[in-house]
Amino acid sequence: MKHILDELEQRRATARAGGGQKRIDAQHARGKLTARERLEILLDPGSFEEYDMFVEHRSNDFGMEKLKIPGDGVVTGWGTVNGRKVFVFAKDFTVFGGSLSETHAQKIIKIQDMAIRNRAPIIGLFDAGGARIQEGVAALGGYGEVFQRNVLASGVIPQISVIMGPCAGGDVYSPAMTDFIFMVRDRSYMFVTGPDVVKTVTNETVTSEELGGAKVHTTKSSIADAAYDNDVDALIEMRRLMDFLPGNNKEGAPEWPSFDDPERYDPSLDTLIPDNPNKPYDIKELILKTVDEGDFFEIQADFAKNIVVGFGRMEGRTVGFVANQPMVLAGVLDSDASRKAARFVRFCDCFEIPIVTFVDVPGFLPGTAQEYGGLIKHGAKLLFAYAEATVPKVTVITRKAFGGAYDVMASKHLRGDVNYAWPSAQIAVMGAKGAVEIIFRGADAEGIAAKTKEYEDHFLTPFVAAERGYIDEVIKPRSTRRRVARALAMLRGKRLENPWKKHDNIPL
Ligand code: HXC
Repeated sequence: MKHILDELEQRRATARAGGGQKRIDAQHARGKLTARERLEILLDPGSFEEYDMFVEHRSNDFGMEKLKIPGDGVVTGWGTVNGRKVFVFAKDFTVFGGSLSETHAQKIIKIQDMAIRNRAPIIGLFDAGGARIQEGVAALGGYGEVFQRNVLASGVIPQISVIMGPCAGGDVYSPAMTDFIFMVRDRSYMFVTGPDVVKTVTNETVTSEELGGAKVHTTKSSIADAAYDNDVDALIEMRRLMDFLPGNNKEGAPEWPSFDDPERYDPSLDTLIPDNPNKPYDIKELILKTVDEGDFFEIQADFAKNIVVGFGRMEGRTVGFVANQPMVLAGVLDSDASRKAARFVRFCDCFEIPIVTFVDVPGFLPGTAQEYGGLIKHGAKLLFAYAEATVPKVTVITRKAFGGAYDVMASKHLRGDVNYAWPSAQIAVMGAKGAVEIIFRGADAEGIAAKTKEYEDHFLTPFVAAERGYIDEVIKPRSTRRRVARALAMLRGKRLENPWKKHDNIPL
């Protein structure tokens, strides 16, 4: 038996050595951890159960028959994050650049199937060069199977991708179908084709960072949801994110002990809104003063900053927050903001996470750039997302709620469950100046001023909407946390179903 056990240990040691010390050193020299080192940080100590450590590729082409490395470039299994089950795979860049062979794909597929069957989240750590070139169509077939499972898992279990090295081809398409993508600054890249191919095809000279670095994907393309300075920071933040997410679409949002009084008043919020309606203020202050312990996990903080989305907790239970940000473009809704918020709202709805919406929006952004860019379709995405969502929806209008944007932002008319307004709310078709110039065209300056005042007094309050019941209650800013917490507690047993359909046809 001793001999057999020794052999097992020796085989395990060989598999753990991956592509060899030289490549591990090169990985470290680039500021990257190895696949197993990453999993050690991501998962609770001692919780990782590894599978398929001895799997090798079956290729006999291009000299591959002599190059077999157990594990074949990906480490797979499951473990726990703060005691909750999660399935994982981590690409091993030291083995054939983490590229995907037929057998490498089978390892990932096995983990995807287990995650779906056991209804637990799956996290992929990516550091890989796409399809294993020596395997040709066998690798492409492998990717197809992975993609298919990404789609089947979508909306059933949370899927998270962390990009931790240069990623190309299938290693960007699979993440693109997951719920969230995170990157590591200065050492992770995402592109369908790398700089060399770009140069050949388009004669464009571009660096990896310019083509697909973390800055590009968090600020321009919106492919990535956040970026971190190094592997350790990224993995610690993934543990934090996992604490916000349900294990599946039936489990409901997780609940952690909270030490923050849900009845807590915050008198400083009474002075959050400036006297001048055109002056900005930071909506994140309201979010941070509302959530438990000021703990907010923001998604896409560097893209479409005119809307803020992310996870917080109320009475220990996860809530998705969506808030117009008056600090950026006066909080206007444009195509980017609409797409960003729509995707977030849909994630929350898939996974039964209640949505709290803070509204201060002057309307949709006018102009040819927006209209040519499809504002109608992109704005409709957010409208559609809120309208189809059946999770509890609590809305607080802090200041402006103008025009179509009033309807879109979880209004009563889109089945908002509890709709509050601060006394500073202004709910109208448009701002006073624009409105008066249209309905009193031709009036002199004095007439315009008088009519503007009349319009402001009459319409720019929450009370016209409150008189119709579109606003359930006008609340004091200081009591926002208490009112939202009570509304969410009341809505815990909410049951609402949309008519049966195969699936809807959201404008894409
Ligand atoms: C086989 C690969 C590989 C691949 C890298 N390697 N990519 N082996 N198939 N796709 C190997 C290298 O030969 C090398 O082996 C080791 O991994 C490290 O690669 P380097 O090039 O030395 O590293 P680096 O300079 O950091 O560059 C990383 C890289 C680059 C940017 C990922 O390797 C690259 O461009 N690879 C090819 C990317 C690509 O075009 N993939 C196919 C995409 S098509 P040694 O032995 O020297 O350590 C695809 C289809 C899916 O994925 C369909 C999607 C819809």
